[in-house]
Amino acid sequence: MKVGIYGGTFDPVHFGHIKLAEKAASQFGLGRVIFVPAGDPYFKSDKRTVSFGAFRAEMISRAIKDNPRFSLSEIELETPGFSYTSETLCRIKRDNPDYELFFIVGADAFIAIDTWHDPKTIFKEAAVIVAKRDDQIEEDLLNEKIASLREEFGADIRLLSWKGRRVSSSDIRNAVAAGEYSFDAPKAVRAFIEKAGLYLPQPSVSQIKYSLKYLLKPLRYKHSLGVAEISEKLAVRHEYQDPKKAYLAGLLHDCGKPFADALSHAAVGAGVARRHFGIDDEEVLSAIRCHTIGREGMSLLDKIVFVADLIEPGRSGFPEIESIRKAAFEDIDRALLMCMESTRNYLKSQGRSIDEESVKVYTYYRNLLSEEKD
Ligand SMILES: [Fe+2]
Ligand SMILES: [Fe+2]
Repeated sequence: MKVGIYGGTFDPVHFGHIKLAEKAASQFGLGRVIFVPAGDPYFKSDKRTVSFGAFRAEMISRAIKDNPRFSLSEIELETPGFSYTSETLCRIKRDNPDYELFFIVGADAFIAIDTWHDPKTIFKEAAVIVAKRDDQIEEDLLNEKIASLREEFGADIRLLSWKGRRVSSSDIRNAVAAGEYSFDAPKAVRAFIEKAGLYLPQPSVSQIKYSLKYLLKPLRYKHSLGVAEISEKLAVRHEYQDPKKAYLAGLLHDCGKPFADALSHAAVGAGVARRHFGIDDEEVLSAIRCHTIGREGMSLLDKIVFVADLIEPGRSGFPEIESIRKAAFEDIDRALLMCMESTRNYLKSQGRSIDEESVKVYTYYRNLLSEEKD
């Protein structure tokens, strides 16, 4: 079967992509077109680059659901970071030896294809369909490039001339940021963008909740809601100036969980909260960052989220939880120390080691509290 492979960031997918895939399928007799969203490099850099892979995949699923010839592959999302087209094509071919692959690419990206990783393999595994808009690129330049690639790699290159209205993902992102939602994308895609608050500099709490529901496993999401509620209650009880902010910090405290391990998810989460959820409040970011091992000189909000993480209503199974719950509403410092002790005891009982930083922070608070008592 002739199968089109259509890669890109798809942030977001729009009618331009859909129409191009339809046109390629009809012009070259493709029985199937597979959309392959590119991986998720955002948590490795300081700048937000692309939206979560899970969200881009969700939008593609919504956009293609009525076309039985279109499908979605998440192979580039499964491995974090950047994926090479050559490797993606090899993997698809290996898993589906009967596929005759056609790699679909825009002329603007195609013009630099010989600078991509391992172009020889790309041309060996697939014919290349170059989608060219009238105004996009100089005809002579493109023809020269095609001729030289045919000669150097024996490349099979087909041209798909492409008319129609230009749609661009970056224009859509800019429109959304300005509050405009009537852009050229399927209704279900637009609805997702609006509900999740994608591309907004600062999504609302309900948009953040909607996003987290997609991002986190169901139990983790429920836990996050529990931590948010308890954080808010503790904030009121201990007269923290902004209980809603405590709710937000609690809600987001585990947002790094899908992208990191038990120890590093807190630091990763602060980055995710800043870049993806537009959190610029340093107090909130700090509470997220130190919710696993704490730090010396924790703020009241840091302590609240740390304690709430351990005592939220969904937690059970350790005997001292009720006494910590009680202490949390009486003396937050005592509760903090009890939480640290409880975690230490648990790790010891499992025969697991306690990391150096946790030991340091625990010792700091134990000494501080015993000094206060004296
Ligand atoms: Fe956590
Ligand atoms: Fe947690």
